[in-house]
Amino acid sequence: MNLHRRDLNRAALCLALGAFGAFSEARAAAAPRWKTTPFTLGVASGQPRPESVVLWTRLAPDPVAEPGFDARVACPVRYALYADEALRQPVRAGEVMALPERAHAVHVPLDGLSPGRSYWYRFTCGNARSAVGRTRTAPAPDAAVGRLRIALASCQHWEQGFFVAHREIAQRDVDLVLFVGDYIYEGSSPAYTAQTGRAHGSWTPHTLAQYRARHALYKSDADLQAAHATHPWIVTLDDHEVVNDYADDRDPAYTDPARFLQRRAAAYRAYFEHMPLALPPQGAAMRIHDRFNWGRLANLWTLDTRQHRSHHACPDPARDVGQSPTACAELADPTRTMLGAAQERWLSQGLAASTARWNLLGQATQVSATGIDTPEGHQTWTDGWDGYPVARGRLLQGIADANVRNVISLGGDVHRHAAADLRLLPNDPASPRLASEFIGGSVTSRGASQRSMARMRRDNPDVLHARGDERGWALLDITPDAARCEFRSTPHGVPVDAVFGTQARFVVADGAAGVQRD
Ligand SMILES: [Fe+2]
Repeated sequence: MNLHRRDLNRAALCLALGAFGAFSEARAAAAPRWKTTPFTLGVASGQPRPESVVLWTRLAPDPVAEPGFDARVACPVRYALYADEALRQPVRAGEVMALPERAHAVHVPLDGLSPGRSYWYRFTCGNARSAVGRTRTAPAPDAAVGRLRIALASCQHWEQGFFVAHREIAQRDVDLVLFVGDYIYEGSSPAYTAQTGRAHGSWTPHTLAQYRARHALYKSDADLQAAHATHPWIVTLDDHEVVNDYADDRDPAYTDPARFLQRRAAAYRAYFEHMPLALPPQGAAMRIHDRFNWGRLANLWTLDTRQHRSHHACPDPARDVGQSPTACAELADPTRTMLGAAQERWLSQGLAASTARWNLLGQATQVSATGIDTPEGHQTWTDGWDGYPVARGRLLQGIADANVRNVISLGGDVHRHAAADLRLLPNDPASPRLASEFIGGSVTSRGASQRSMARMRRDNPDVLHARGDERGWALLDITPDAARCEFRSTPHGVPVDAVFGTQARFVVADGAAGVQRD
């Protein structure tokens, strides 16, 4: 059935544009007549700045079929931006080509917009019209902003539950969604499919076509589409957008680095094709770290904790994934890095120069220490910041030296809601609190038991809250006086009709690093 429909669509396109036709021919041709909508993956906006945002969509009439929508012709897509929800006040309109080499993804960076306001947008292609999206620009750099509301989310394994967290995020009045990684999962967990009825339905991706199909499957989710259509997103990646626990050019199987980098290039490219981002990757290299600001109220840095990191300390020679060694001298090696020298310098200089009231770090994993004492010795997890303790120390020392105000790390990866204090010497009450941390849980991905969380907290008093048994997201409400965090949650195994509640609330007061119950 799909083949038939796709063929009809392709025939319509070819008739309209002329297969392999020149750009000018394509523009001159009649608009394509779609038999079914090509806007099956929704619309999105991202990278909100005072005068610019990026709009996104992708033409994919049959999105999940490998290798995805395979029409070999370019297709003109019109975009229109409006100042009002009723779409009566046009602000900007134009046409871009959806190109086969970009999987017919469309990225429209718009500048010259007004700061601190909402806009609405829509795409059309021939007789097809997309859903209407809403976006929002950041306030002017010198604006005295009273409030920034962020939805913090991460880790959405398709097979492990439904994306109901995004349904709730779409209904909330937030300025932006901050997604800190594991947007897709490369691996399957078939045990869940019986409960959820959701299966990847394809093998672990290695090629561009396979990563495209995986992204398209995730993007077909109506709740995820709603969160994208309602708010601008700011994103960074973690490991599963490529493969579990990769570090720079090394994957768990110790694949030849040149070959693994080809896979990483395919994964990054597919990621770009499905996200409201302005800059495409260059081969296996992608500029992920970035900086945003919300008037004088907040600066937000997004960090890349995968691409430039040192390989894991004390790896298993058979399979290089995170380990929990009790004795690993390599951890103390000062040359080990989480961010890479260039990003580390860029961040510490940016933090030192910041004049914003709040300084937020959007990054993939947990910064606070989570190691536990065992009869064999102190166990630390080598894939998170615990595996890069000297780099973590440099980051915190820089915050202390420059007296950076109100630093809060906003993380994911570990599938728990967590709130923690960050000290130069973790868990040492004599070491001053220098920053704070919130982790927003996971949209669906399974976390650790409450028994293991209790054990972790026993040995890590800096972690004031940790719940691995529930799924969800975090609502950050940042004002000049305080940064409040509400953990939204529902029990694990998120059904399609899951109901969310408040798991806990924490607050960081202006000028006083550390989290307190609210
Ligand atoms: Fe995850």
